[in-house]
Amino acid sequence: NEIKIFSPATVANVACGFDVLGFCLDSVGDEMVIRKTDKRGIYITKIEGDFDLPYEAELNVAGVSALAMYNALKPDCGFEIEINKKIKPGSGIGSSAASAVGSVFGMNELLGRPYTKTQLTAFAVKGEALASKCEHADNLAPALFGGFTLVKSMMPLEILEIPSPDDLYATIIHPQIEVKTSEARAILPKEVSLTNAITQWANFGSLIHALHTSDYSLIQKSLHDVIVEPYRSKLIPYYNEVKTEALKVGALGGGISGSGPSIFTLSKGIESATKVASSMKSVYSKTGIAFDIHISKI
Ligand code: HSE
Repeated sequence: NEIKIFSPATVANVACGFDVLGFCLDSVGDEMVIRKTDKRGIYITKIEGDFDLPYEAELNVAGVSALAMYNALKPDCGFEIEINKKIKPGSGIGSSAASAVGSVFGMNELLGRPYTKTQLTAFAVKGEALASKCEHADNLAPALFGGFTLVKSMMPLEILEIPSPDDLYATIIHPQIEVKTSEARAILPKEVSLTNAITQWANFGSLIHALHTSDYSLIQKSLHDVIVEPYRSKLIPYYNEVKTEALKVGALGGGISGSGPSIFTLSKGIESATKVASSMKSVYSKTGIAFDIHISKI
């Protein structure tokens, strides 16, 4: 009647795939306990971690997605949710998505899996929307499916699983400043030029092809973002320096993780990812800005 889960952090956008591409991290995530109860309703009973998150289910991301599923299924029971929040809100690695996904994943397991992962993603979109003021699934889908996912369509929700080359690693640095997704979306232009659109979809198509064919040099050539990065990089201190240093020591490429401030890079092999981590660290070490750093196999 109880399940303990690890709900992973994720990197959305992946340079050229704004709002559609994402991948899952295996080294960082929230821990959650979901418990089936006789008392009906959804109750957040415990929140650990140093954050001021609400206990009212309607105001909590995990609670909102749980309520969406609960109201659709109307089961003859209720659920308690405990959240041990390990992913900092506003870090750019899918903190709200991890909470939104964790509650519905746990409930679905306890109920004998009435829903598919795509249906669970649709419930979780409601929780994610509470946090980022907009419905997007590029963090939710990789948290539920693992690996790389592509959100082919939101209406109806359609998710594709994209393979990862065997030796692909991500290095993520999180400078400890907060960038709100809603604010990082508000600064984006509503329209893009045809020239930029052509460059972006050429890179995006190539990146997907490179992931399917394990072509590391094509991954390297495709990891560029001409649409979003020019605006959002201004919100992240030392962004260009971090990326330049990482590329110098062999990163395949990188970009802003989700809406930032985290920065991700991709590398072939753990040795390269570790070297890249040291170079990224060295930039922030000189600035006095505190940071965390993670390496994950994708
Ligand atoms: N695709 C979303 C954005 C992800 O970049 O705004 C937010 O984590």
